[in-house]
Amino acid sequence: MLHNERSRRAEPKKNHNTFTFQAVILIFTTNSQKTDMNVLILGSGGREHTLAWKIAQSKKLTKLYIAPGNAGTREVGENIDVSPTDFPALKQKALELNIDLVVVGPEDPLVKGVRDFFVNDAELKNIPVIGPDKRGAELEGSKEVAKEFMAKYNIPTAAYGSFTLDTYNEACTFLDTMKAPYVLKADGLAAGKGVLIINDLQEAKDSLKVMLEGQFGDASAKVVIEEFLDGIEVSYFVLTDGDNYKLLPEAKDYKRIGVGDTGLNTGGMGAISPVPFADKVFTQKVIDRIVEPTIEGLKKEGIEYQGFIFIGLIMVNNEPMVIEYNVRMGDPETQVVIPRIESDFLELLAAIPEKKLNEQSFTIKDETATTVVLVSGGYPEEYEKGKIITGIEKVTDSIVFHAGTGVNGNDVVTNGGRVIAVTSFGANKEEALKKSFDSANTIQFDKKYFRNDIGFDL
Ligand code: AMP
Ligand code: GLY
Repeated sequence: MLHNERSRRAEPKKNHNTFTFQAVILIFTTNSQKTDMNVLILGSGGREHTLAWKIAQSKKLTKLYIAPGNAGTREVGENIDVSPTDFPALKQKALELNIDLVVVGPEDPLVKGVRDFFVNDAELKNIPVIGPDKRGAELEGSKEVAKEFMAKYNIPTAAYGSFTLDTYNEACTFLDTMKAPYVLKADGLAAGKGVLIINDLQEAKDSLKVMLEGQFGDASAKVVIEEFLDGIEVSYFVLTDGDNYKLLPEAKDYKRIGVGDTGLNTGGMGAISPVPFADKVFTQKVIDRIVEPTIEGLKKEGIEYQGFIFIGLIMVNNEPMVIEYNVRMGDPETQVVIPRIESDFLELLAAIPEKKLNEQSFTIKDETATTVVLVSGGYPEEYEKGKIITGIEKVTDSIVFHAGTGVNGNDVVTNGGRVIAVTSFGANKEEALKKSFDSANTIQFDKKYFRNDIGFDL
């Protein structure tokens, strides 16, 4: 641990020689672990506000920028009006603002190769990016690539087949061999909408055809058909430097819009961490069978993976099965995972480019964190924007993370489907949830909606 080493080295100076020796070490330490860092976070949601909130507390931070950010991030850093996928504009800003580290929030820039862009640019190559390269990002960008990877490294997952329009007849034969319900997944990124779960065989075949014919554009030109896994979902989060890793707190997310997990899928309506059924024994299985084989597999594939790995699991008969990899943190899972981390998070991130994550201490709060997401009425379908948000300043028992918010004159206004996440702590989930629901009632905007049953199944 760097801190301990530092303090050990800084023991009383006996003579001039010792002092010189210490000074040299100090310079060395300073170079390898910068203490004055300008950090750029890419993204504009609740996840990014949470990352910004946490990084802003770091003693290593000089200046924090968020591109493009939201009305919340401007309170902990400076928003810059650049899209996370406009790489030339990012380059200009990164150089102009003397950025020392880039932290990528969403998957889109990763799948489009933002890390590769930095690594391959003579002027940017010394600015580390937290997030995998394009090949690493394929774990999320292509369901087929993820399934092949899991099969190759014996990582437990559902049986599957992968098909295109040319192999539609084989796909139907494959469906004939499977039991209902049928799980159809667009291979590419489809903004969380590319998974269909269908009970009827003929309907599954028909829907498959619609998908292959372009329902989700190029993303569904290939479709993965998967065995249905019956169980309860939980997600694990890993931060890795490619060699070493830290297991972050796990979380459970509530994806459906309606109470009792009904209705359309959303980005996520709330989250809880820790997850009671994800106990030590289960977590050890996740580490042994999934986390470590994943990191080993990435190394064997020659992928230098530096960033977050989000492992979506279903617990089937007490055994973990992977349903998806994401190459970033979850949203709203970040809003409960990151606040539980007590350690200086920027110190962890800064150790990644040098592959020294193993030297970092890392502690997690025992308390339960819950987050409840306030959304615009109508979401995940049509909804209105620009509604004035009031009452944020009256919230005292929760942390208010902005997601889809913007500024209009002196007002904070709604600017997206998911507007705000309120995170609270408690000795147990009931205590934390009570605070989150109270805060959710305190914040007002026209057509506000939130699920009042987050955690109901735990
Ligand atoms: P994904 O985009 O792969 O995370 O899938 C979206 C949602 O579909 C997941 O959160 C699960 O609720 C569900 N799902 C995905 N794959 C399966 C599966 N093989 N069995 C059961 N449910 C699944
Ligand atoms: N909440 C799910 C996700 O971030 O993918």
